[in-house]
Amino acid sequence: MRKKLLLGNWKMNKTISETKEFLKDIDELVTLAKEKDIDIGIAPTYLCLETIKNNVPSSVIVASQNCHYLDSGAYTGEVSVLMLKELGIDWSIIGHSERRTYDNETSQKCNLKIKKLLENNCTPVYCVGETLEQFENNRTCDVVKEQIVEGLKDIKLEDLSKIVIAYEPVWSIGTGKNASKEIAENVCAFIRSLLVDLYNKEEAEKVRILYGGSVKPNNIKEYMQEKDIDGALVGGASLKVDSYKELIHNI
Ligand code: 13P
Repeated sequence: MRKKLLLGNWKMNKTISETKEFLKDIDELVTLAKEKDIDIGIAPTYLCLETIKNNVPSSVIVASQNCHYLDSGAYTGEVSVLMLKELGIDWSIIGHSERRTYDNETSQKCNLKIKKLLENNCTPVYCVGETLEQFENNRTCDVVKEQIVEGLKDIKLEDLSKIVIAYEPVWSIGTGKNASKEIAENVCAFIRSLLVDLYNKEEAEKVRILYGGSVKPNNIKEYMQEKDIDGALVGGASLKVDSYKELIHNI
């Protein structure tokens, strides 16, 4: 049985003081998550990681939104997994579509980052998903397949279940046009079938696959009832405590 996971991706939002304001109510969120028996987490900007890590119980996942695939060197503006680990950060979002779009993040580069995270006993949350044009041209499965095959290339069987995958159709992110539960389930089931082909059924069944894209308190429940959707990666609706609380409540 895969435990449900709700991960808030704060993107480039919240200063340290705004983060502290949010954290005033963290106990309520933690209690509710425990009652619901789900994992919850937050992925803030690098600057707020330490503030969050030092002010939440260890049951709350704190993730970075990116990392580099090397340990150190002349890479201006980058942060390595070793640096994150020193802060106790052992989860990282990889390959978010905003990074694929604006920062030339390729599946090949994601593959290097995923390997570096696994080498350091960290959990990658690997994002995949198609653009509107690809969706309209019925290319979703081709695109997602390429992202999964390239992103997970040479990842060992024993490491597969340490990875979380997030299906986020680009056309649904921040648009209010969430994918129907049928579309989301179909693609998440397709991803799991790819994992069965690439690895085996037993290990593929252990992998948590999240849906992301305009998930709100009023639509989260429908996704959570689907067989292959094990949680949600949420942007906008994770920014306010009340809305985050409602998301947990409605899972
Ligand atoms: P929204 O929930 O704001 O659509 O963002 C989704 C997302 O990109 C999470 O990573």
